[in-house]
Amino acid sequence: MKVVTVVGARPQFIKAATFSKALRKQHTEVLIHTGQHYDRELSDVFFEELDLPEPAHELGVGSSSHAQQTAQILERIEPVLEAEAPDWVVVFGDTNSTLAGALGAIKLDISLAHVEAGLRSFNRSMPEEANRVLTDHCADLLFCPTKTAMTHLAAEGLSDRAHLTGDIMLDSLDQHRAAVEARTGILERCEVEPGAYYLATVHRAANTDDHAALARIMEALGRLELTVIFPMHPRTRLALEASGLKPAPNVTVIEPVGYLDMLALQSHSRAVLTDSGGMQKEAFLLGTPCVTVRDETEWPETLVDGWNVLAGTDVDRIVEAATRSRPTGDRPDVFGDGRSAQRMVDLLQHDSSHRGRLD
Ligand code: UD1
Ligand code: UDP
Repeated sequence: MKVVTVVGARPQFIKAATFSKALRKQHTEVLIHTGQHYDRELSDVFFEELDLPEPAHELGVGSSSHAQQTAQILERIEPVLEAEAPDWVVVFGDTNSTLAGALGAIKLDISLAHVEAGLRSFNRSMPEEANRVLTDHCADLLFCPTKTAMTHLAAEGLSDRAHLTGDIMLDSLDQHRAAVEARTGILERCEVEPGAYYLATVHRAANTDDHAALARIMEALGRLELTVIFPMHPRTRLALEASGLKPAPNVTVIEPVGYLDMLALQSHSRAVLTDSGGMQKEAFLLGTPCVTVRDETEWPETLVDGWNVLAGTDVDRIVEAATRSRPTGDRPDVFGDGRSAQRMVDLLQHDSSHRGRLD
């Protein structure tokens, strides 16, 4: 079986690394990097750290408006998909690279699978929501991380293509969990002790492009009594520079970090404050309290017993949530068994054989 995988943004490199390992045991993978993320800290570092194979094709689209970026990927991916003629195209998550890869496949009548299908925020103003809904409706196979995702797809009439595989980010975390516990170099470099700092990330358009919202988040971080380590996405750095907002003295802004350092920072922090989807889940899986600076989440399972709290961008709510007592309840195994990638590969193989598309 020949599979084209399409990646372009940070969380996709992490998911693809795990998927690729399972796929390449028995099958041929052709990796396409769209170039949506191109900074070393947002791209190369993950290829090196996670042994992700060199991309066979780099589309080099870079940054632009949503329409331009999506259109450029679509335009550039078409000849590559035509030439490669794979049995499957696999896309991950909900970025512009995901949607463009999906459209590229469906326009050429190539079977399409979506990893992390069925997630919904029900907030139609979020660019990612449009990407996920459209990709799910294009795909032939939908790999759902949770039962909630399966329910969403059922409500949209997509049950016959949907499979509960578990979450590929849990596979990835399980592969690195042991190494992460002992990994304290990044804490030393940031001059913080385990349990005595907060960790923050912000990059959602709703928080970076709205000056008032970003100002409230920054004010809340400044009100916390511990150091806040803030690996800053370039989008947020640009927004801060444009707005003239200055981080408070207790907020240590650093460049984005690699995956293992990020897991270590999350694991040892007093709490994580974030608008990242991936990090809400990682904090939950690592047993670190999370404050989500959004009003809704695609991962409602993480809200159980107060492990994750939706605080929006209200200063008092953020501070109150960050300083709450540590939750004590159990964290149920809602993200699968850490073997989702192999399950996905098996489903691709089974579906192809069933359709008689393979030799
Ligand atoms: C994208 C995804 C988002 C995902 C995030 C992961 C979409 C619509 N959004 O958001 O779902 O959570 O990636 O991190 O696809 N930039 C750089 N260097 C880079 C890449 C970007 O400086 O290597 C700057 C550019 O100014 C760019 C801005 O960041 O305009 C935003 O980048 P973009 O890829 O458009 O969206 P993200 O905010 O990264
Ligand atoms: N991440 C990382 N370094 C950082 C910030 C995030 O390695 O500086 C990892 C994080 O641990 C998670 C993934 O990137 O695995 C989440 O990506 P991001 O927050 O960019 O996107 P989202 O999950 O919100 O789509």
